[in-house]
Amino acid sequence: MRVLVIGNGGREDAICKKISESKKLTKLYCSEGNAGTLRYAENVKLKSNDEILDFAEKNNINLVIVGPEVPLCEGIKDKFDNTNIKVFGADKESAKLEGSKDFAKEFMLKYNIPTAKYETVTSKSEGEKVIKHFTYPLVIKADGLCAGKGVKICQNELEAKEYLKELFEEKIFGQEGTTAVIEEFLEGKEASLLCFVSDGNLIPMESARDYKRIYDGDKGENTGGVGCYSPNELFNEDLKKSIKPVLEKISYGLKQENLAYSGILFIGFMIKNNEPKILEFNVRFGDPETEVVLPRMESDLIDVIEKSIEGTLKAEDLTWKKDKCMTVILTSKGYPLKYEKGKEISGIENVDEDIYVYHNNTEFKNNKILSAGGRVLSVTTLGSDFEEMRKRIYKNIEKINFENKTFKKDIGIIK
Ligand code: AMP
Ligand code: GLY
Repeated sequence: MRVLVIGNGGREDAICKKISESKKLTKLYCSEGNAGTLRYAENVKLKSNDEILDFAEKNNINLVIVGPEVPLCEGIKDKFDNTNIKVFGADKESAKLEGSKDFAKEFMLKYNIPTAKYETVTSKSEGEKVIKHFTYPLVIKADGLCAGKGVKICQNELEAKEYLKELFEEKIFGQEGTTAVIEEFLEGKEASLLCFVSDGNLIPMESARDYKRIYDGDKGENTGGVGCYSPNELFNEDLKKSIKPVLEKISYGLKQENLAYSGILFIGFMIKNNEPKILEFNVRFGDPETEVVLPRMESDLIDVIEKSIEGTLKAEDLTWKKDKCMTVILTSKGYPLKYEKGKEISGIENVDEDIYVYHNNTEFKNNKILSAGGRVLSVTTLGSDFEEMRKRIYKNIEKINFENKTFKKDIGIIK
């Protein structure tokens, strides 16, 4: 099996590593990849879905695995429709579950899937009327893909009006922000659940907890996620019981709406008193969730993906290690705002044998590994006890260096 993975982050590094362990693999490419994926894949630079299709046809690729949301929302799956190359990922219409907050909320409302109450607006004046229907804090979300930056939690009317102005008058997200969802603020704790989607059937993986805020104590700007562990302690038997019918409703809705794709559905939950409500859908693996979920998977990922595409994947096809997994992300100082790239990284080779370092944003240039983005490396380990694992991770972080290396100190402290 000749496989092409699309993407260049920690998520794709983790996908490539897991795919490289499959007995079925004969050749692995990654576009664009990073200095980490070079360990098991040949990196290629393909700049558009057209270039990807062309490369896949010329290089006898059998399977394309799509990491990020942008190529999915642009319709990469549909582009391959008339070929015999398999693509693992949502088609363009199904990708709206991530690409449009309004589309996702309407889907949840229609199929009675628990989520925050909301109204959708398309102008500042409409928004100013609608905010009066809510109490504070309230949440305003730009409708489209905004690289994780389109959500604002507003503490008062002044902040809400200011954000509506930024979206509709200053157009800070361009076209992506010309529709907005205004919704009730949900209290509770967040949990991520990645599911394989097999012809509309949902087969959940192990749960995870992501750390979104940049500073310790859940403070500061929202990021893409700067630390993570799996499983999430909120996933007790009672919660699993209450999530089951939610997954069934989603699956029923996907089939009813002709959205029965094969790929990933990432569900972001807010949990309070074992009651799940859905914050968001993504149609891709999460980052950093993938870096802590895939290392725990025993099943052959190519097998699982092939079954998912055939529509035959069953819960029994997924087997898991007993070990837990945790990762702490080393970031460039300043992330998620302004930060510098191009810093030389040293010491990765010195980490202990039971530590694995995934690359989020790195490049290999002139025989050196350089930082190439805000999230740089994910220092990861498996083990049986989170407290012991976090000690080992933080000890090993000291062995890795680059200028202005920054990281949270409170990953895995479970309260
Ligand atoms: P989203 O992209 O919709 O997941 O939103 C990004 C982050 O904003 C979430 O991970 C939550 O931390 C927060 N958030 C989004 N919607 C809500 C809500 N209705 N209530 C509370 N927090 C929210
Ligand atoms: N870690 C959250 C995401 O991948 O969107």
